[in-house]
Amino acid sequence: MKVLVTGGAGYIGSHTVLCLLQQDHQVVVYDNLCNASVESITRVEKLTDKSVEFVEGDIRDRAALTEVFHSHQVDAVIHFAALKAVGESSQIPLAYYQNNVHGSATLLEVMAENNVQNFIFSSSATVYGESNEPPYKETMVLGQPASPYGTSKVMVENIMQDVAKSNDKFRGISLRYFNPIGAHESGQIGEDPKGIPNNLLPFVAQVAVGKREKLSVFGDDYATKDGSCERDYLHVMDLAEGHVAALNWLASKPEFTGVEAFNLGTGTGISVFEIVNSFEQATEQKIPFEVAPRRQGDLPAFWADANKAKEQLNWQAKRSLTDMMKDTWRWQSGNPQGYVSHD
Ligand code: NAD
Ligand code: WQD
Repeated sequence: MKVLVTGGAGYIGSHTVLCLLQQDHQVVVYDNLCNASVESITRVEKLTDKSVEFVEGDIRDRAALTEVFHSHQVDAVIHFAALKAVGESSQIPLAYYQNNVHGSATLLEVMAENNVQNFIFSSSATVYGESNEPPYKETMVLGQPASPYGTSKVMVENIMQDVAKSNDKFRGISLRYFNPIGAHESGQIGEDPKGIPNNLLPFVAQVAVGKREKLSVFGDDYATKDGSCERDYLHVMDLAEGHVAALNWLASKPEFTGVEAFNLGTGTGISVFEIVNSFEQATEQKIPFEVAPRRQGDLPAFWADANKAKEQLNWQAKRSLTDMMKDTWRWQSGNPQGYVSHD
């Protein structure tokens, strides 16, 4: 298939592009590079010995998007492009709604104008909100996320439902990611956050490489197995393979129309202290840490019910926590400044 990958130069996008190329799909990446470097694509091309068509552009730019659909026979769109910093989204909510909601609506409109119906969307566990109890199941009513970022994901899921009601050919999949971490096993591509990382693993990795002094563990008095928060961490390569599984599912179901949601997670909750221990053991690096106050908006614990993806997509996360730690470290230690220095 010829797949248009928005946000394909980013963290999850670049790993997914690699998997798509390995499965002999043709890939057009469309990315405005606001949170990525084109070096990720260059490295994916080297790793796969295949080429990617790269277009620098914004999903809010209707004319540029239209041009892409006119110059390529796109069979499916995998839509990663979005702003994703949860804390920042409360400070500049309109930028999040512009990028994530208006951008997605523009993309869906241009797809419809060009009669492209296959759409795979990067959703998030955050759509389950604060009132659902883990493990999260796809049948749960979506909740009210604590951040404009999370709300933007719920809004796009709702937009997809409305598009499906108005267009009986639309074939949408919403993939609800839990907490992706790790890097490609080559250590050549990985997560490259700008500035101080918001997420746990990039922060841990930067402490290990000497860029940050110590980790702050946000709270040790939750009602969890060891007092720290629990999350469902999955290897980014497993997540990337989940997208190929979703694409294969669409291809194998020509009769399918509508929208289907799948959780992509391992089904297991891992605590912050377990992450620190596991990283130390897998990499033989010491991670100095201190216990800090709880972070506003953090839920104590959540993880996926991952059965639907297993049964229907024939996908399950197969890499271990040790793999996640070793691969994070291989990427971070080999690329201490990321793709290009941001500092
Ligand atoms: P990322 O920031 O590395 O990738 C997003 C990419 O989109 C970047 O390359 C960025 O330059 C591009 N982009 C952003 N706005 C754009 C726009 N308006 N036009 C064109 N390109 C644009 O983030 P990621 O971690 O790879 O996340 C990918 C997707 O998965 C996002 O939609 C994110 O919300 C979602 N997601 C991520 C996580 C996570 O923990 N990383 C969890 C759940 C869902
Ligand atoms: C994990 C755990 C922190 C940093 C967010 C989004 C979610 C999804 C993934 C996109 C938490 C703790 C963290 C640190 C810490 N993204 N922590 N010290 O919050 O589960 O999810 O990213 O959709 O929507 O909300 O991930 O990596 O920020 O935090 O103790 O310096 O690590 O409290 O328990 P989170 P995270």
